[in-house]
Amino acid sequence: MATQLAKSYPVTVIDADKNHPISRWASNDNAPESMKIIADADEHSIADRIDEAALETPFVIVDLPGSADKIAVMAVSRADFVVIPTAASEPDVIEAMKAIVVVRQHEKGMRRVNPSYSLPFAVLLTQTNAAIKTRILKQVVDGLVERSVPMLKTELNERSAYKAMLFYGQTLETLDPEDVSNIPKAIDNAQALTNEILEALRAARSKESTV
Ligand SMILES: Nc1ncnc2c1ncn2[C@@H]1O[C@H](COP(=O)(O)OP(=O)(O)OP(=O)(O)O)[C@@H](O)[C@H]1O
Ligand SMILES: [Mg+2]
Repeated sequence: MATQLAKSYPVTVIDADKNHPISRWASNDNAPESMKIIADADEHSIADRIDEAALETPFVIVDLPGSADKIAVMAVSRADFVVIPTAASEPDVIEAMKAIVVVRQHEKGMRRVNPSYSLPFAVLLTQTNAAIKTRILKQVVDGLVERSVPMLKTELNERSAYKAMLFYGQTLETLDPEDVSNIPKAIDNAQALTNEILEALRAARSKESTV
């Protein structure tokens, strides 16, 4: 999403996972010029880092560790939209539900001062099969719908291009089609995801301005 946005806008990515996967990805200088990566945020500084970045670039994307720990709570307190990526598997969905609890707790706290406050969020299904909908995926989706969990319409398919981005330290656009298959499909999928999230952000903003 960050590399797709960076084609049109300045973007800051805050690499708040202490394994720093995004800094590692960018270490060969292939990150777009319009993308700034911040890797020194911890639970004490992340809120300030987000506020500072938001003054400089129209988009700030924060990648958090998989666990719903304190840094996630602090980052959520500054978010306009929370995307909760999960594969269609039991352990992933359990982690996703913990992230939803973090969002709901933040909303609850904020509603003490502003009763109409809401923080939009959605689960993103990742690593799904582009060709078939597995029975497990259907059951996972049914389970989430039953719990009224908002979900993005776009799924991120399992594609070697997404693995290759990290492996070769490239964007989807700079990957070599000789090495990696179906790059255009991966770009279309990433762009569809980006468009849907932009749409959701716009919807949240217009709702906010009518309150
Ligand atoms: N859509 C996809 N297609 C192919 N491979 C993927 C896809 N999404 C993730 N992967 C691969 O799965 C692995 C884990 O993905 P990723 O780093 O996005 O997970 P994560 O949820 O951020 O994990 P963590 O909780 O450790 O941060 C990586 O090796 C990545 O390349
Ligand atoms: Mg991660």
